[in-house]
Amino acid sequence: MREENLSLRAKYNITALFYDILDYPWERVYRKWRPLLLGDLRGKILEAGVGTGRNFQHYHESIELTGVDLSDVMLRKAAKKARKAHCKIELIHDDASVMQHVESNQYDWVISTFLCCVMPDEFQPMALEQFSRALKPGGKFRLLEMIYSKDKNIRKRQDFFAPFVEKVYGARFDRNTLQYIEESTDLEITSKRFLKDDVYLLIEGIKKG
Ligand SMILES: C[S@@+](CC[C@H](N)C(=O)[O-])C[C@H]1O[C@@H](n2cnc3c(N)ncnc32)[C@H](O)[C@@H]1O
Repeated sequence: MREENLSLRAKYNITALFYDILDYPWERVYRKWRPLLLGDLRGKILEAGVGTGRNFQHYHESIELTGVDLSDVMLRKAAKKARKAHCKIELIHDDASVMQHVESNQYDWVISTFLCCVMPDEFQPMALEQFSRALKPGGKFRLLEMIYSKDKNIRKRQDFFAPFVEKVYGARFDRNTLQYIEESTDLEITSKRFLKDDVYLLIEGIKKG
């Protein structure tokens, strides 16, 4: 684990204790999206930044899932949800920008929801390299992130919540994930669209070659 990520891990080890309650107002919206984002996936899947495991129940029973997270306390919560999931799940305590316990060329999909908005910009190219390394040739990725809106009223609301969101989740609206994927030599974007306003950005793509 990167030393610079120890403070983020410490943050999530505390946030984990009340994450599902704290996040409830947003989750009321996200939970409508999760089955649509995950229901069509098949094969071996690597989910980076699984959190408390909110995606688990939406994976098809045939899936073999590997879930990675920086926070051991979040993973403990995830383990409880894993027991109720329909598919096979292995959880790994690892940093997505290192993935030292994740094998190469093994996965049909890499999935993450609200990981990159949490991950400092400096580590994002490294995490993308790891995603690419883990994917089989032709493997695909699907990432859901939140970014700053261009709409003045939405932006005002985001500015109001930004200090709370950063303090509690380490999340920011100004991460440059899309740019890093565009600059990646190994990954290619095949689609990008917003799920709500111009804030919730779904980025899909494929491992080149
Ligand atoms: C905002 S939560 C999202 C959780 C979950 N994906 C969801 O949709 O509810 C971000 C998660 O990413 C994890 N995380 C942050 N940086 C990470 C990293 N470098 N490697 C692995 N996990 C990380 C945090 O510990 C946290 O559980």
